[in-house]
Amino acid sequence: MGKPPKNDLLLNRTMTVKNIHYRALAACFSLLIMLSACGDKSGRERELFTSDWRFSLSDDSTASQIAYTDTAWRTLNLPHDWSIEGEFRVDNPAKPEGGALPTGVAWYRKTFVVPASSSDKSVFIEFDGVYRNSSVWINGHYLGKRASGYSSFRYELTPYLKFGKKEENILAVRVDNSAQPNSRWYTGSGIYRNVWLVTTGRIAVDHWGSFVTSTPGTDGSAAINLKLQLRKAAGESDPVRITTQILAEDGAEVARAEADALTFDSVATPEQTFTIANAHLWTIERPYLYKAVTSVYQGKKLSDVYETPFGVRSFAFDSLKGFSLNGKPTKILGVCNHHDLGALGAAVNVRAMQRQLEILKAMGCNAIRMAHNPPAPELLDLCDRMGFLVMDEAFDMWRKKKTKQDYHVDWDTWHTRDLRDMVLRDRNHPSIILWSIGNEIREQFDSTGITITRELANLVKSLDNTRPVTSALTETVPEKNFIYQSGALDVLGFNYKQQDYVSLPKRFPGAKLIGAETMSALATRGSYNMPSDSVRRWPVDFKTPLTTGNADWTVSAYDNVSAYWGSTHEETWKLIKRYDFMAGLFVWTGFDYLGEPIPYPWPARSSYFGIVDMAGFPKDAYYLYQSEWTDKPVLHVFPHWNWTPGQTVDVWAYYNQADLVELFVNGVSQGIRQKSADTLHAKWRVKYVPGTMKAVSRKNGAVVLEHEVRTAGRPARIVLEADRTLLRADGQDLSFVKVSIVDEKGTLVPYASNRVTFTVTGEGVLAGTDNGYPASHESFQGPQRQAFNGLCLAIIRASRAQGSITVQATAAGLAPAHITLETK
Ligand code: GAL
Repeated sequence: MGKPPKNDLLLNRTMTVKNIHYRALAACFSLLIMLSACGDKSGRERELFTSDWRFSLSDDSTASQIAYTDTAWRTLNLPHDWSIEGEFRVDNPAKPEGGALPTGVAWYRKTFVVPASSSDKSVFIEFDGVYRNSSVWINGHYLGKRASGYSSFRYELTPYLKFGKKEENILAVRVDNSAQPNSRWYTGSGIYRNVWLVTTGRIAVDHWGSFVTSTPGTDGSAAINLKLQLRKAAGESDPVRITTQILAEDGAEVARAEADALTFDSVATPEQTFTIANAHLWTIERPYLYKAVTSVYQGKKLSDVYETPFGVRSFAFDSLKGFSLNGKPTKILGVCNHHDLGALGAAVNVRAMQRQLEILKAMGCNAIRMAHNPPAPELLDLCDRMGFLVMDEAFDMWRKKKTKQDYHVDWDTWHTRDLRDMVLRDRNHPSIILWSIGNEIREQFDSTGITITRELANLVKSLDNTRPVTSALTETVPEKNFIYQSGALDVLGFNYKQQDYVSLPKRFPGAKLIGAETMSALATRGSYNMPSDSVRRWPVDFKTPLTTGNADWTVSAYDNVSAYWGSTHEETWKLIKRYDFMAGLFVWTGFDYLGEPIPYPWPARSSYFGIVDMAGFPKDAYYLYQSEWTDKPVLHVFPHWNWTPGQTVDVWAYYNQADLVELFVNGVSQGIRQKSADTLHAKWRVKYVPGTMKAVSRKNGAVVLEHEVRTAGRPARIVLEADRTLLRADGQDLSFVKVSIVDEKGTLVPYASNRVTFTVTGEGVLAGTDNGYPASHESFQGPQRQAFNGLCLAIIRASRAQGSITVQATAAGLAPAHITLETK
């Protein structure tokens, strides 16, 4: 191909491509290419840039300069959240709604060397997320600022770097989270997500510069389209050649395309197409992932290798039939989650996120709504790999505020960039099926909502027209809902308003509908108030503070308490289950989170909405969902069996795969019960006598499951159970150790509140403790934790060395326990 005239060398130029179908010979060729890519260091290197940072919780403008002395600063590894290290105080500016932990301004600095071999490369620093208002300097040179605490961003370092082993470079980051309150929930503070140092050749795939789309064919094949954006540093020579291999999960090449020689000034946008024969689909049950590996050559020199994982799947929303994945009707059984990881705060940890997803998967959950902001990229990777559908969300407010100092102050300057970056960063994830441009946005109620919705939806569509755009709405009267009036939404998400579900198809003719946020049911794990069959709305309305709550800041875990705008779990799930036109739901929330302690004021400091508490221990409603959402046989009977003799106690059971359940107290039948379309649990009202309560589920007369709960004696000893005993020695991997206080016979003591002290020795440290109690003011990082309703949790982080870790747990008056973990 001859060199085109200068004015042809433009942005957005599409290259000709040759689509070469997979052939046996190609495998050998691809091996050669791969070997040369490995041998040639001129490809891309992406290095985790998180060790040995210096940190100071103070503000000093000279800290941006090279000469600044930071030797007195603390040394730490990222990701780091300084708020979680602080003390709960009612007068902390973030307020209890924001978690009641300290915020402020802090600096991070890192000294590093860049090898001389990188001097002819391009070097970038990538931040996955910094909360918030970060400013970055390299060697005293100001690189820029980012207001949003949830956006990922990068800067090019190349022109300001000093290369070679003896030359030090200084990266300085100022983080300003002092303007408060700026959130309705806990945000964390600092460089709380990962940081990467990326080195490429001078001609490389741009930041988020690939976009894969796939169309499954009727013959089992899949058509793949790859749009690339290449960037060339000034002064580099042409021509450029690109090769992309499509690799299956086992690494085998299944398709390949090569692009003709290309000449361009600074940016080119070539496109490649492929056919995968017998494509594996990405499904919830088997989330199969392919990878597009793009090699960029400058002449013969390999300049970049860029990987784009993707999945082959199709989906549709239908106004009558709801959602389908790969043609299969699939109810979206989702939860909303905020980003904090309990005792670890906002600091990203892949194992902690994976554990949350494992717990949700076992409940039958198949979808996550990223409430209300773009998540850590690793969470989306996990959703891709574990088979979760995702609603990715950009904003909790637009120009109109929800809290005084929130993102509305940055709206005009930043919203286009932040929305664009979310879509560019995330659009290759097969898990994502919805882009949400906002949650309960106030512009819903006036005509500015029309203009802004159109602007945002158009922007999203210009970057990805394969997914619907939605917004989480609250106004179910069409004439009053200006976001709806814009006509720019593809799917209408409604938060709450469950009483209106039945009329939504009439009110919004032809609309595709989903319960974007539901329930806001309230519960504290292991706490029960009788009677169980009267529903409390706590609070009853927005004007009346709660006066009838419990003195210990707990909420009964029978599913009979909710916020007034919400419902119990059963109330809304029954409706979503009934209406095919509702594509599904996202329960508020999967896990309890820091902040928003509705229904209580301080001393409560974390939420009561979770199906699972902050420590990761399921509340009883977990088993309601498990019995409704999975095929796994379930029988869960509650409450505990430690009451006052003669007291009337309500006993509930969640079950499935059985016709009925019979309850026995000390061997005496209390009757047979069945759930119905209207009541998704069985219930008995019995007089308490100490001993044993046992539920037996039967199908066609045969026993399916039995679940027994015994009266516990006095607390006698500690029992430790680790979720994993073999950890990767990578300084990040975690073991979650569940601590139970049991009586002499090993029965959980359901009221035990013993204070447990942890001692961790060997190749690990105590990363945090928790007990799920929303009004606890104990430090998440201290070595002690009071059990709450019999349980607490110790989180152990592996060091970088191989060996073993011993976790010891002691408490006054109890037999101690220890457990040994391995690091490898
Ligand atoms: C919703 C809101 C959520 C959370 C929830 C609590 O209205 O979208 O962010 O505040 O209420 O019930």
